[in-house]
Amino acid sequence: MSMNREDEIYEGRLKKHMDELKWLYMELYDAPDMFEELCGNMSRVYKERKKALKELDLKREADPEWFKGNDMLGMMIYTGLFGGTLKGVEKHLDYLQSCGVNYVHLMPLMESPKDRSDGGYAVADFRKVQPELGTVDDLEHLAESCHKQNMSLCLDFVMNHTSEDHEWAKRARAGEKEYQDRYFFYDTWDIPAEYEKTVPQVFPTTAPGNFTWLEDCRKHVLTTFYPYQWDLDYRNPVVFNEMMYNFLFFANLGVDVIRIDAVPYIWKELGTSCRNLPKVHTIVRMMRMIGEIVCPGILLLGEVVMEPAKVVPYFGTVEKPECHMLYNVTTMATIWHTVAVQDVRLLRKQLDIVYGLPKDYTFLNYLRCHDDIGWGLDYDQLEEWDMLQAPHKRYLNDFYLGKVWESFSRGELYNDDPVTQDARFCGTTASMCGVETALESQDDRALEQALRLDLMLHAFMLMQAGIPVIYSGDEIGQLNDYSYKNEPEKGVDSRYVHRSSFRWDLAENAHKPDTVQGRIFEGLRKLETIRGEHEAFTAQAHGETIGWEDKAVLGIMRTGKTERITGIYNFGRSEKTVSWIGGGKDLLTGEDGAKGGYVTLKPYGFIWIREGL
Ligand code: GLC
Repeated sequence: MSMNREDEIYEGRLKKHMDELKWLYMELYDAPDMFEELCGNMSRVYKERKKALKELDLKREADPEWFKGNDMLGMMIYTGLFGGTLKGVEKHLDYLQSCGVNYVHLMPLMESPKDRSDGGYAVADFRKVQPELGTVDDLEHLAESCHKQNMSLCLDFVMNHTSEDHEWAKRARAGEKEYQDRYFFYDTWDIPAEYEKTVPQVFPTTAPGNFTWLEDCRKHVLTTFYPYQWDLDYRNPVVFNEMMYNFLFFANLGVDVIRIDAVPYIWKELGTSCRNLPKVHTIVRMMRMIGEIVCPGILLLGEVVMEPAKVVPYFGTVEKPECHMLYNVTTMATIWHTVAVQDVRLLRKQLDIVYGLPKDYTFLNYLRCHDDIGWGLDYDQLEEWDMLQAPHKRYLNDFYLGKVWESFSRGELYNDDPVTQDARFCGTTASMCGVETALESQDDRALEQALRLDLMLHAFMLMQAGIPVIYSGDEIGQLNDYSYKNEPEKGVDSRYVHRSSFRWDLAENAHKPDTVQGRIFEGLRKLETIRGEHEAFTAQAHGETIGWEDKAVLGIMRTGKTERITGIYNFGRSEKTVSWIGGGKDLLTGEDGAKGGYVTLKPYGFIWIREGL
């Protein structure tokens, strides 16, 4: 590309978005000089962007659906736990390829104080990698290697807060007003007290309250998450500009997907819950446009852990899009609820909502991630079915703790709030499915069932439109690891029960069919391959649910142009037979899907039936 051609492309993109970007910026900040500074830096970053990345931008611009295929498969990985260092991860890209993965989310890896890191979500320097993991050059190199192997790389962009060790925080603490203005600093408790009246707590047990008293400078500072994570004040245009430069810095390293951490929290207003405020959307919309101007190949993934009505607005509108992708968090939580209660009604309702949304909306589907499972379910609906919120949450937690009859799960409570009696849950997929209990009691039948449940849930996830993302370790059925309890910073944070070192020793069994690892690994590979081969699994196909009288069985039908695939899932702990008048082939065995008009499913069994159209 000649220089002029590059300029023309940039001008074209700028022209498309300039009016709206300027309008939103001025409305928010009324700071023409800061806007000019932003524009100057955007153009500089574009000039510095590598040729290869610019070409990728053009390719993706020409094919905006590039990330919506049925061959996309993601994995969430901790660099240190999986590969030791970034170079180590690079060496293991072949393993990821053998898992069929073409989208890698590396958990936070920028500089963060070791003893106060919140798993890396307390960033002290957005331009430096944690030294034990490597360097920014290593990251850039890894991104290049990923691209060579047709993999996309996702990184967290923790924009709501910085670590108290960040340069700005240090200068604020030292008394520099300019830096204090980048956070929420208060001399007295008056305003914080007002906030506390309306703002809920994120970590009621591990980090109660929303403010932290800084004894050395005698100020209160807003800390929605841990006391060492100071919330940034986006009312200050310097904060917005500087954070946009950090975002663009990531983009120019070759990162493909930017996960905007804790996005609902980035705007605060007194007298509100400080969640999902309209100005959050202004900021995300501006970010989307900045991306489309400078580096249109990158995608924004919003971390919105909220109920569906609050999640969907983060897609923006078709004319004014915000995030490209969002987590399908309610479906995830509802799946686990369904397993516990053997009643698919709520899951069916939830899927009907998702299937009713425009097909442009791309969800990331997952069973487990690095965080806890919050029981954010549709309680208005559940109450109609006599499942009342407080006792139901308690039941779910007891079920997954393995405390109730018929339960096989293992795991731990998270932020068990003594006041609201609310608690979330932590554990790996395999442990929650009963693999840990079955192995411990050497119960083969229980193990069979646990493995069946594990695979059934993955099959269910793979049948949803969007991008399925596996949490590293789940592909080999990794179990809970309780050793975090002995570590000083981690001991109180039970999320570490499912954040343990990748078991390379066990991964060696991945292809041995008589091992737990081999059965899950090969089972998943088979499902993923089938998914990639059938157009009924693409986002364009039409999804709908089917139900039977038996509350434990749920069907999902995906109708594409040439075929229809029906998944029938037994969420019950006993064998089920349901009628199936359609014909079709069982995609896993190659046999007839329904014999004599019926389908029989083992406890936690499922079937994928294909009919040609
Ligand atoms: C997100 C992360 C979580 C972290 C929080 C604060 O929710 O997923 O792990 O604790 O943000 O940054």
